[in-house]
Amino acid sequence: MPYSTEENLTDIVSERWSHVPDPRLRQIMQSLVKHLHAFVREIEPTEAEWMTAINFLTETGKLCDAKRQEFILLSDTLGVSMLVDAINHRLSSKATPTTVTGPFHIDGSHEVENGQSIAEGAPGIPCFVQGKVCDVEGKPVANAMLDVWQTDGEGLYEAQLEGKDNYMRGIYHSRADGTYLVRTVAPIGYTIPMDGTVGNLFKHTDISPYRPAHIHFLLDAPGYHRVITHLFQKGDPYIETDVVYGVKEPLIVAFEKKPAGATAPSGEVMNEPFYVVNYDFTLQRLPQAKAA
Ligand code: BEZ
Ligand code: FE
Repeated sequence: MPYSTEENLTDIVSERWSHVPDPRLRQIMQSLVKHLHAFVREIEPTEAEWMTAINFLTETGKLCDAKRQEFILLSDTLGVSMLVDAINHRLSSKATPTTVTGPFHIDGSHEVENGQSIAEGAPGIPCFVQGKVCDVEGKPVANAMLDVWQTDGEGLYEAQLEGKDNYMRGIYHSRADGTYLVRTVAPIGYTIPMDGTVGNLFKHTDISPYRPAHIHFLLDAPGYHRVITHLFQKGDPYIETDVVYGVKEPLIVAFEKKPAGATAPSGEVMNEPFYVVNYDFTLQRLPQAKAA
């Protein structure tokens, strides 16, 4: 067995992992060693820089708990989450594209009727999102679940506020003809949390830490690919520079401003200005599922 040198160290480490019985673990670890060593050889860190990196990762781990996941934020802001998402959701170009879940989804939201608000008492401009859930052939998908979550009109999610429950989130179902109607307030753009290691890293850069205004949707229906996605507000100043690279062209939608006195999609005459967003979701059938 040769002793390690700068030249042969990568090969020695890789060889040791080449005997691991689990082929997937072997492949992952050998690739990790290859790319990690190449990274270190390329940047040639000083020992102080290496300790800075170790401390960064240590502090990132310490920030993680049931409510906050700084490592996911790191993955999101380095584009890794969107890459993993793309690799795992290679859908038809006719299907609604997927995006990252992000850290603010809360399981078990309350069920709401079409037209019922998820923004009771929330600050912001009223907003109605309406459309149809269809399959790629344009056939309506009835009773599809639409789990919706978003910021209020001040840019805050429930998870960032004390004492709120079922705030700015809810589960709708498409009607028999595939249509749905979400009632909410318009979200606004916001920065990623800036009080942790990731935010601190961004403070040393000129990279925008903003996400453009968006509404998150998780759609699920038996026999179809589950889709986690967002609708982004067209014209938002941060559309081109989303800090987590989540924007996809088909997900940019107009928020049409209507004046006070206009009739909302719910049928009521509104006494204040409001937005209407029209969007049809397209779900792709799972390969093994038979057409209804
Ligand atoms: C979000 O949209 O909720 C989000 C996604 C990734 C990082 C931070 C926030
Ligand atoms: Fe979000």
